[in-house]
Amino acid sequence: MKASPLLPRLLLALAAAASGSIQAQTAPPPTRGQMLYDTHCVTCHTVQMHWRKSSVVRSWQDLQDQVTRWQASARLGWSQDDITQVARYLNDTFYRMPQTGGVAKRE
Ligand code: HEC
Repeated sequence: MKASPLLPRLLLALAAAASGSIQAQTAPPPTRGQMLYDTHCVTCHTVQMHWRKSSVVRSWQDLQDQVTRWQASARLGWSQDDITQVARYLNDTFYRMPQTGGVAKRE
């Protein structure tokens, strides 16, 4: 009887699944800002939205204003803290501007 070709494939799949779960454990957990953004905002956004040349965001204050505007238009009712967290996530990920203003403190 020929050896089943299924077994090596099964072992490979198991190994891949195991290494996947190890990665999931060691990856840093998403920040609150990232979770909020991923849940409510990425539906119409692409990554390019945040580094297009015509970006309306020129400063940390602009970024907070845009996040405020977008969460309002989606009627999410975010607190100032939520807005700051999402602005910080976007800034850390895309804009990399100096964060001015006392509300931009790190956790
Ligand atoms: C209905 C689709 C839609 C949703 C939902 C949405 N956006 Fe947007 N967003 C856009 C479009 C389109 C633009 C670009 C045009 C503009 O600025 O009006 C934009 C632009 C932005 C910009 C400015 C980007 C730049 O650099 O010019 C920010 C910041 C932003 N959105 C944040 C958010 C946040 C935060 C949320 C979630 C609360 C959100 N958006 C949800 C469609 C959306």
